[in-house]
Amino acid sequence: MGYKEEILRRRTFGIISHPDAGKTTLTEKLLLFGGAIHIAGAVKSNKIKKTATSDFMEIERQRGISVATSVMGFEYKGIKINILDTPGHQDFAEDTFRTLTACDSVIIVVDSAKGVESQTRKLMQVCRMRKTPVIVFINKLDRPSNDPFDILDDVERELQIKVNPLSWPIGSGDTFKGIYNIYNQSLCLYTPSIQNIQEGLEITDTDSEELDQHIGKRSADQLREDLELVREVYPNLNREEYLDAQVAPVFFGSALNNFGIRELLDCFIEVAPAPLPRETEERIVQPDEEKFSGFVFKIHANMDPNHRDRLAFVKICSGVFKRNTNYLHVRNGKNLKFSTPTAFMASKKTIIEDAYPGDIIGLHDTGTFKIGDTLTEGEKLHFKGIPSFSPELFKYIENSDPMKSKQLNKGIDQLMDEGVAQLFVNQFNNRKIIGTVGALQFEVIEYRLLHEYSAICRWEPINLYKACWIESLDYAQLEDFKKHKSQYMAKDKEGRDVFLADSQYMLQIAQANYPKLIFHFKSEF
Ligand code: G4P
Repeated sequence: MGYKEEILRRRTFGIISHPDAGKTTLTEKLLLFGGAIHIAGAVKSNKIKKTATSDFMEIERQRGISVATSVMGFEYKGIKINILDTPGHQDFAEDTFRTLTACDSVIIVVDSAKGVESQTRKLMQVCRMRKTPVIVFINKLDRPSNDPFDILDDVERELQIKVNPLSWPIGSGDTFKGIYNIYNQSLCLYTPSIQNIQEGLEITDTDSEELDQHIGKRSADQLREDLELVREVYPNLNREEYLDAQVAPVFFGSALNNFGIRELLDCFIEVAPAPLPRETEERIVQPDEEKFSGFVFKIHANMDPNHRDRLAFVKICSGVFKRNTNYLHVRNGKNLKFSTPTAFMASKKTIIEDAYPGDIIGLHDTGTFKIGDTLTEGEKLHFKGIPSFSPELFKYIENSDPMKSKQLNKGIDQLMDEGVAQLFVNQFNNRKIIGTVGALQFEVIEYRLLHEYSAICRWEPINLYKACWIESLDYAQLEDFKKHKSQYMAKDKEGRDVFLADSQYMLQIAQANYPKLIFHFKSEF
């Protein structure tokens, strides 16, 4: 197969949802469907258990296990599918944001009784920012669900995207009879099954008697009525609009019962984008360019405290990556060669000889990489679109063992490179501030500093509302602001100016007094 065909047959995407909507179950059923695993339950056992939410050591242990499921590759109908796992736990939302930067499209799972929930709304903002095409899967139709039209309205309103249903449920809960596949006009009758994949019946004419025979007259009439309305309200899917993130195809089903998955997957491989061009600070990189380029979007520490080695996940953006070949690490200007690049097929990790755009490879790292780093064949490119977001929680980090300050600094540095949290150094008193998305990360940092770096840290409270990256074309006003707010000025890890506002009110006043300054809640603008 030619190089271009290899690229065109790749689909790299992430599944996102609010915890409990069914992301893990759907992932697993897709793998089952693709033949990558053979029994249901294989992925699920790797999931961070809900019961463990307050037990961070257990979470770390499970995160270790979850390296294997970070990327799940499989083949389906000649298409190479890469599913990128996103942590469901909201304290690791930053991880999810970054993983989304490596996805070419996204499937959003929504619980049919709960509708769109908070975490999904947040993640959708990131998709919108990057114009990522999304498909929505409405899950758990085997349980009493909301009216499908109400669900669609909810999705449209909450996710701020037009919807286009491509399958339609017939009842729900006890009365759930199946789904009608609008996309290819067939009926799939519901029989609960955790292991089996259900086949559809071809019924192109919904007015035919056959429909009544299968689902009963009442349900058949209801379906006819619904479909008529669907055809009126929702026009045929326009793929361009989907690719442009203006419209989201919607599917209904029950992941647990393997139901509605085939419809989703068959449509997905047809409409979802192959690897897309990527923006760098210098230029747009096309996937079919001859020369290799890629960027690090995730770093996973090895859970063995005796070995501080890590696995850097690289998304390939152009060209062919080859084992044992010299590539330029653009940030530090060094050439690096990788003898054990790994790819992930289902839960197996294997050493690969080459990889194509869309693929994710794992590179053994002893501390040379940080999130956002670029690898190329020599060109000095810097991929865009991997921003840091303002953290939600902040604490001063202090050294509790003066003999170990070197270890502490090294530990903090490396954990920040991994993207565990963000570091800000206050320019007024030089104290280090750690910002996180969830409270759990403070415990994770403390634990890892001790176990991996033998350093003991202590947290001290600081009252902060947001970290804002500031910019202005008016140099004088920028300098004036920095002088007047010097107590609140910090540098992030890249040396960028960050204003640490201690309240919403303080931020509003600052915005009013310095109209020529722009306050950003993310590091890239
Ligand atoms: P998440 O990754 O989004 O957090 O969700 P997950 O797949 O773990 O699903 C959350 C719960 O919802 C699980 O039940 C799962 O079995 C259930 N579930 C997923 N899809 C469906 C569905 O289509 N129908 C029904 N009825 N339930 C579904 P649990 O009891 O919390 O866990 P478990 O004991 O089943 O593992």
